[in-house]
Amino acid sequence: MANEENSVIMNIKTRRSIRDYLNKPVPEEVIRKIIDAGRYAPSGFNLQPWRFVVIENKEMLERLSDFAKPVLLKNLVGRTDPLAVSYMERLEDRNYNIFYNAPALLLVLGKKNNPLSDYDCTLCGGNIIHAAHSLGVGSCWVGNAGVIQQSEELMAELKIPVNYKVVVPIVLGYPRDAPPPPEKREPSISWVR
Ligand SMILES: Cc1cc2nc3c(=O)[nH]c(=O)nc-3n(C[C@H](O)[C@H](O)[C@H](O)COP(=O)(O)O)c2cc1C
Repeated sequence: MANEENSVIMNIKTRRSIRDYLNKPVPEEVIRKIIDAGRYAPSGFNLQPWRFVVIENKEMLERLSDFAKPVLLKNLVGRTDPLAVSYMERLEDRNYNIFYNAPALLLVLGKKNNPLSDYDCTLCGGNIIHAAHSLGVGSCWVGNAGVIQQSEELMAELKIPVNYKVVVPIVLGYPRDAPPPPEKREPSISWVR
């Protein structure tokens, strides 16, 4: 199909969330290139409200995961649906790391007092995951990591300014293998002509 010959569309269609990474750092220049693609995202009034934090320190990544797990577990208490139950089991596993042991966590921060900031940062995150994929870097948007903001201490250690919030947490790293493509439903489209 003509669409599939277009490299942008091919890149979009072949990206998938990676949850198993090689123990190999992503070079700084590659991370900078990925962030650079992020900053080209559109933003309301072109305010570009984002800032970025790149966490590569293994100990910090473990601390963040260890902080998040009990908070996530508490949020799921009482849920009986299979998805929640199986995620609760994972969260109870000492060896489970919410960042999948990726070598880097990129936080896209947005402005707290800008109502469009979440949209802007989400588009920035979209650019980031696709740019990463185009450079052979795997990624996974780990929305669950948002709970780290409940720790003032961690926010201070990460030097996150008080007027900013974590909107998009994305892990980056080299994939250990290529996971099978997840099912993508056919779109429901209503045409009004
Ligand atoms: C807003 C958002 C939050 C997500 N949070 C998580 C998460 O906390 N943990 C995780 O493993 N994947 C998370 N994902 C990844 C989705 O599970 C994944 O995109 C989805 O299963 C489709 O798979 P694909 O990305 O390979 O197409 C998140 C994705 C989005 C867009």
